[in-house]
Amino acid sequence: MRIRTFDEYQAAYNHSVEDPEGFWAEIAQEFQWRKPWKKVLQWNFEKAETKWFPGGKLNITENALDRNVRERPNYPAIIWEPNDPNEPSVTFTYKMLHEYVCRFANVLKSNGVQKGDRVCIYMPMVPELAVAVLACARIGAIHSVVFGGFSAQSIADRINDSACSIVITSDGASRGNKQIPMKDTVDDALIGCPTVKKVIVLTHTRTAVSMLKGRDVWWEAEMKQVTSDCPAEEMDAEDPLFILYTSGSTGKPKGVVHTCGGYMVFAAYTFQNVFQYEPGDIHFCTADIGWITGHSYIVYGPLLTGATSLMFEGVPTYPDAGRFWDIVDKHKVNILYTAPTAIRSLMGFGLQPLEGKDLSSLRVLGSVGEPINEEAWHWYNEHIGKGNCPIVDTWWQTETGGILISPLAGITKTKPTYATLPLPGVQPILVDENGKEIEGNGVSGNLCIKFPWPGIIRTTWGDHERCRTNYFAAYPGLYFTGDGCLRDEDGYYRITGRVDDVLNVSGHRIGTAEVENAINMHTGVVESAVVGYPHDIKGQGIYAYVITESDPDHEVDLIRRDILATVSRIIGPIAKPDKIQFVKGLPKTRSGKIMRRILRKIAEGDVSNLGDTSTLLDPSVVDDIKSGALVEV
Ligand code: WT7
Repeated sequence: MRIRTFDEYQAAYNHSVEDPEGFWAEIAQEFQWRKPWKKVLQWNFEKAETKWFPGGKLNITENALDRNVRERPNYPAIIWEPNDPNEPSVTFTYKMLHEYVCRFANVLKSNGVQKGDRVCIYMPMVPELAVAVLACARIGAIHSVVFGGFSAQSIADRINDSACSIVITSDGASRGNKQIPMKDTVDDALIGCPTVKKVIVLTHTRTAVSMLKGRDVWWEAEMKQVTSDCPAEEMDAEDPLFILYTSGSTGKPKGVVHTCGGYMVFAAYTFQNVFQYEPGDIHFCTADIGWITGHSYIVYGPLLTGATSLMFEGVPTYPDAGRFWDIVDKHKVNILYTAPTAIRSLMGFGLQPLEGKDLSSLRVLGSVGEPINEEAWHWYNEHIGKGNCPIVDTWWQTETGGILISPLAGITKTKPTYATLPLPGVQPILVDENGKEIEGNGVSGNLCIKFPWPGIIRTTWGDHERCRTNYFAAYPGLYFTGDGCLRDEDGYYRITGRVDDVLNVSGHRIGTAEVENAINMHTGVVESAVVGYPHDIKGQGIYAYVITESDPDHEVDLIRRDILATVSRIIGPIAKPDKIQFVKGLPKTRSGKIMRRILRKIAEGDVSNLGDTSTLLDPSVVDDIKSGALVEV
């Protein structure tokens, strides 16, 4: 499955288009299956139905763990770097990790978890988070990891949507110089979660927590009650492996469902080929396992490859802005995979944090989560890669399971700000608003994919129709990504950003409707409209236009703070608006639709060209908003 030259890439690509089933079957053969599949692929994009390797039986952990225990038992699987640099790092070999996972899988069983049950995991970036994920997979329970920065309300919404029966958490988390009460937040969430019968609590920060009799148990105590012998559950390739919630342009976050077989094949294939992992390499992905990047490129992709994955608990700026470089130096990291927002923020500290740090172990640099701007690309290339490391700008989504468009490190010629070429098995197509294909090069349009790949979303939990309308209805017969895209003269792809009402703030995906709903929960708020605007470090910032019941003039700052607190409480601090402008009205069409186009322009500071405003119910609101705009014009 490993591609080593550009010719091999082209051959693989052509093979994957001419005979997709033959292509993926050959790759899938390289894994360990209990029973062969009955068919390679069944699909119908009109109905949003895709099945890869149905009838095939396997357990992903036999591939990620047992196989490696046989082949490389003492090879490091996970290296954990704690938040506090003065605390020791911890290494788990494949043998140790296998044993730890099996033991915890037995803890899940002894707490009543069965195949198909949903398990909510709300934990800091500690090895036990990876262990909890893998333990679910071991027994066929469906994990739903919720990012540790989300609020109690967000946890509750996610737990209730998929009726989780158990939550795994820790007493607290350490991020930089902050201590975060995880268990407390879970306790708040569970007030509204009748399906949760058990909570397993890891001791980590030793902060005081309340432990409810009959419901809450300690991780460590439970581990003493079980053995480390846990045969893997036999799963169908199309049984769900996990749910991961992500924001869309409307409503509440939806539970993206990935399944065992296809996801396994795709996570491993993309990991190996994009990063060109070599035995002995240390792979450091700086994402949190609470996002898809962590699922695919901290846990599953690396472990399925028998690689060493470095997990970091903390933040890039603690104890100072040189922390990433200290980690690279200390652990001799070979592959660094991070986000443009992190690069831009570290750029701001200048070169001093790099002084005395040996980065010569680095061989491959990766970028993910948002378009990388030219300046950040060059800084990354020159100051981190020293001009010697290919940068793989990897474009993909929660829904795609793994990377779809990216250079293969050292193989594909890179070009700043371009994700370059599709991976084998991925067939991108650009379409105009009417769904007509835009052919040729030197063009741009909406990015769709016209053929399924093994990691494609299978459904949105509990609401398949939502999956169909979201991804497969805009352009019948195609998967619609929600991204705008340019294809240059060389056929290289450059992702230009979302074309829907989804924001990308510091690589975090946030729906404008979600933020509006949270703002509207605040007493005294009549209505609000949220748009994104260009932000130097975050990529996009959140700009909120808010109408209040009474004239806010006298208490503006107080109301603003209260709104921020409300959004934090409802969604989490990551969704807090950067700017709140109080307005008397919003630009609406006669049918009552908010014209976001105008609000976006004003937020960007581009008021010269607001386009046609004649269809507005009351065009005068625009002047009013313009005059109060919170940007330099
Ligand atoms: C959206 C998906 C997939 C991992 C993390 C984000 C944007 C992602 C890139 C990139 C330009 C990118 C897209 C996409 N995006 N990677 N390399 N260049 N844009 O996953 O939260 O599901 O967000 O992130 O807009 O649709 P996600």
